[in-house]
Amino acid sequence: MTDYTKLYEEAIKASEKSYSPYSDFRVGSALLTSDGKIFTGCNIENASYSLTVCAERTAILKAVSEGISDFEAIAIYGTENPCIPCGACLQVMSEFCESDFKVVLSDGVHELKEFMPNAFRLKK
Ligand code: THU
Repeated sequence: MTDYTKLYEEAIKASEKSYSPYSDFRVGSALLTSDGKIFTGCNIENASYSLTVCAERTAILKAVSEGISDFEAIAIYGTENPCIPCGACLQVMSEFCESDFKVVLSDGVHELKEFMPNAFRLKK
């Protein structure tokens, strides 16, 4: 079983960058690519609330915009834990990740299919 301790620590560190003046709910994520790189993300809120971007999507969009879309795992740390990814983030994960993609939370290592068994898809 892979040890995702370092990845989880990166998610904790990333949560320190959270911009969350409205909810005061800080979230950090650390996304591990299939070739061993880590992209981190935090939640970034907006006065127009619906424009808020979650920590998971920040990390995924950073990676994809750099041309990388093969992922192994994501660790997530929030003000309250376990911090289960929201439906929007699960949908975005499902666009790029297989069902055995690992979701590392405070209570252990999960797989994407546990939270999102049937994602909406237009291809595959
Ligand atoms: N949030 C995340 O960053 N990830 C999630 O999966 C759930 C929610 C953020 C969005 C918002 O800034 C704050 O947590 C409270 O909802």
